[in-house]
Amino acid sequence: MKLTIIGTGYVGLVTGTCFAEVGHQVVCVDRDQQKVDLLLAGGMPIYEPGLDEMVARNVAAGRLSFTSSTREGVEKSDVIFIAVPTPPLPDGSVDLSFIELVAREIAGAMTSYKIIVDKSTVPVNTGERVAETIKRYCKAKVEFDVASNPEFLREGFAVEDLMRPDRVVVGVRSPRPVAAMKEIYAPFNAPIIVTDINSAELIKHAANSFLALKISYINAISILCEATGANVQEVANGMGMDIRIGRRFLDASLGFGGSCFPKDLSAFIKISEQLGYDFRLLKEVQTINANQMDRFVKKINDTMWVLKGKRIGVLGLAFKQNTDDVRMSPAIDLCHRLLHEGAILRVHDPKAMEKAKPILQGVTYVDDMNDVAEGCDALVIATEWPQFKQLDLEKTRKCLTHPILFDGRNLFDVKEMEELGFIYKSIGR
Ligand code: UGA
Repeated sequence: MKLTIIGTGYVGLVTGTCFAEVGHQVVCVDRDQQKVDLLLAGGMPIYEPGLDEMVARNVAAGRLSFTSSTREGVEKSDVIFIAVPTPPLPDGSVDLSFIELVAREIAGAMTSYKIIVDKSTVPVNTGERVAETIKRYCKAKVEFDVASNPEFLREGFAVEDLMRPDRVVVGVRSPRPVAAMKEIYAPFNAPIIVTDINSAELIKHAANSFLALKISYINAISILCEATGANVQEVANGMGMDIRIGRRFLDASLGFGGSCFPKDLSAFIKISEQLGYDFRLLKEVQTINANQMDRFVKKINDTMWVLKGKRIGVLGLAFKQNTDDVRMSPAIDLCHRLLHEGAILRVHDPKAMEKAKPILQGVTYVDDMNDVAEGCDALVIATEWPQFKQLDLEKTRKCLTHPILFDGRNLFDVKEMEELGFIYKSIGR
C-alpha cells in the first residue's frame, strides 16, 4: 500500500522503514529540512540497532523516500500516519500543537479520500479533535476517516519490536478504514485488536503507566530487601515465574527515565484529573521513582563521606541500553547531582557521548570503558549496557584508588564482586 508517515523521530522513522521492509511504498515527511537532507544523504539522525541498514536497503529498492513537503506526502498516499512529538507542558499536560498543525496541513492538502492515523502518544479524545480539525480546514469536499494506532516499540529494540509486535491496536469510528489497516499490518503476523478510538488512546497511556508502576513496585521491594538482607533479583525471579505477573520490567534500578515513562505518567495523571479522578496510585509511582535516585545518591554519599574533590568514574549516560538517547536520563541526572556535590567526573557511554556533551559539561569523556576508573576514588554504573558486564574487573580494581563500585543496574553478582576485592553496593541486594 502507499503510506505516508509524518514525523521522522524514533517512532516515525522506524515505523516507516519497517512498513517499507514488508513491501509497502512509504514516504517519510519531516518539516526539519536538515534532517531530511541527512536521511537523503544516507545519514541517520538516531542510533537504533539494525535501522541504518534497513533504511539503506529500502531506499535502494525504491520503497522508502524522504521529503519535507506534507503536501507531497498527502498526495502520494492513501493512508497518512501522524508520528510527531507530543512534548510535556510545564503543568504535566500534553502539548498537542504539533498534532493540530499537522492535521491542518493534511486537511489543506487533501483532494481525495484519506485515512489519517495517529501514532503519537496522545490524551484520550485527541482523535475526535483531529477529525474536527480536518473537517474544518479541508477546503475540498472529500471524505476521510481517522484512526488511532498507538505504537509500543522500545528504544534500542525498535526494529525488533516493530517487526514482531505482541499486538497491533487499531481504534476507529466506523468500519470503513479497518480493511486498510488490516492490510497494512498483515505481513507482521500479529494479533490485531480493533476497538474505538478512545479505548485505543487509553490503551497506550494505561500500558506505559502500568510498566512504570511495575518498575516502581520492584524498586519499593528493593528497599525492603536492603533492610532485611534479602535479594531483589531472587524476589523478582520468584514473582516473575507466576505467568500472571511475568518477569519483565521487574529489574530494580536507580529509577526509570527516557522520553516516554516520565512524560506519559504526568500526562495520564493530568488527563485523569481533568476527567475528575485523582490517580494517586500513579503519583506514588512518580514518588518512588524520584526516591530511588535520592537513595542511590545517599548510598554514594554515605560510603564516600565527602564528595567534594573526589574523582568518580561513571559508566553509562543513555537512559537505557542500546540507545544514544539521553532525554530524561537517570544517568545524566546522577552526574549532575555528583557534580553539584563537588565530585570530579570521568564518564563513558558506548553510544550516547555525543548527545550528552551539550547537556553534561565539566566532565572528562573517556573513549574506552576500561579506562574510566583510572585514578578514580569510585566507579558508578548508571546504564544497563550489556557490554559493561565485560568490564575488565581486575584492571578496574587496580585503577581505582579505592575499589568501590556502585552499581545502579545490578549487573554483577554480589558474592563474586566481593571475592574480587570490591566494596560493591548495588540496588536491593
Ligand atoms: C517505553 C515502553 O516500554 C514502550 O512500550 C513504549 O512504546 C515507549 O515507552 C513509548 O511510549 O514510546 P522506552 O522508553 O523506549 O519504552 O524504554 P523502556 O525499555 O520501557 O525503559 C524505560 C526506562 O525504564 C529506562 O530508563 C529503563 O532503564 C527503565 N527500566 C526498565 C527499569 O529501570 N527496570 C526495568 O525492569 C525495565
